[in-house]
Amino acid sequence: MSGAYLQCIEEACGRRQDSKRNESSCAWCGGLLEVKYDFDPFDPEALRRTWHQRRLSGEPIDRSGVWRFRELLPFVDSSTRIVSLSEGSTPLVGTRRAGWWAGPVHLTIKHQGNNPTGSFKDLGMTACMTRALARGVPMVACASTGNTSSSMAAYAGRAGIRALLLVPYRQISAAKLAQALDFGAIVVEVGDTFDEAFGLLRQLAPEMGLYLVNSVNPFRIEGQKTIVAEMLEQRAWRPPDYIVVPGGNLGNASALGKGLRELKMLGFIEKVPRVVVVQAAGANSFYQTLAAGSRELIPVENPSTEATAIRIGRPANWKKARRVLEWTSGLCESVTDEEIFEAKAVLAEDGVGCEPASAATVAGVRKLVRGGKIERHADVVAVLTGHQLKDTEYVMRHRSQSQENRQRLLVEPSLDALRRELEKLLTIPAGGLAS
Ligand code: F0G
Repeated sequence: MSGAYLQCIEEACGRRQDSKRNESSCAWCGGLLEVKYDFDPFDPEALRRTWHQRRLSGEPIDRSGVWRFRELLPFVDSSTRIVSLSEGSTPLVGTRRAGWWAGPVHLTIKHQGNNPTGSFKDLGMTACMTRALARGVPMVACASTGNTSSSMAAYAGRAGIRALLLVPYRQISAAKLAQALDFGAIVVEVGDTFDEAFGLLRQLAPEMGLYLVNSVNPFRIEGQKTIVAEMLEQRAWRPPDYIVVPGGNLGNASALGKGLRELKMLGFIEKVPRVVVVQAAGANSFYQTLAAGSRELIPVENPSTEATAIRIGRPANWKKARRVLEWTSGLCESVTDEEIFEAKAVLAEDGVGCEPASAATVAGVRKLVRGGKIERHADVVAVLTGHQLKDTEYVMRHRSQSQENRQRLLVEPSLDALRRELEKLLTIPAGGLAS
């Protein structure tokens, strides 16, 4: 690594690490690690122009929305083989109804579902798999609620590295499991929760020589932090007031915060947006921990939410995420599954699809505005983390179970019957069908 090193985040420890060993926890105290750089001074204006120009380039490394910002990730050099699938470069779209419903606020959506495997995990995975390949690891592994696994499987395939996935038994969506299988990962179903599977893997990985690619791997965070640069560029470098993410294992919130802090330190922005983490009420360990002012994590032993992506009771990155909320005067909120469903339905009215966990962001904004913690008309970016088709079981459960919502009908195949139904339907005003 040129000018880059790993360091423990624990204040009482803070030691630099020998990068040849386990990269996911401190060799001395077991704390979380982060990648640090001795950045050379930048000319932000010149670098912004370079990043902008790369958008016109045909080079694969420039086509990636992560590696286009490679000056922010100098753990690679020009001889490193980059494992990329042209991730990033995701759209920033405005909303009308969702912003009105949630506030009113000026709500824009950064849609990370538009990534190669359909989630924000691809941003982290390109960085972490590049690192795994450079180290020549024989096998990568993760425990997952589904998206990390799809992403790991794809990028491991691309790198030519074997991939092992641990998932809680029957707890992840069929689409995510199918993706991992399709990309050739070995899938082990074990335990009832993500936390159980992850706990087992974390203990076994060093002993079995497995390279862990969960978000405790600090290189994952490096890739994911570039979302901030891309989003700010799309906004002509005008920071929003708030950036909102759903909270599961809290890697994404950690990455956002690291990205913002570095961009501020390097002179790209003056104002730092406040980072907001939204958790599902049945899996709100971080929310509870902060609300109680506890210095120890208050875990949720049997996490439960229909937003399976964030059904996590012991978020591994909570200390990094807490730091981010401290740095950015951030907020944390907790929302029910009903509130998540409502938010998802309102986003759908704007033509924006996403998986349930992603919609928690917009539900959280509404709650925070109502509670007076986010001002009306604030400038808010919600990061939608996963694609609509990641969890079709959820949609089918909510949208087509009953004939009563008049959205999905079974009609006898005759002209008369069909005409009768259509006549009834045509009397319903537009938008009257949903919800
Ligand atoms: N949204 C989606 C769609 C996710 O898949 C996840 C996490 C999150 C939000 C939360 O992000 O963990 O960084 O706080 N999914 C992980 C997985 C845990 O295994 O796919 P986080």
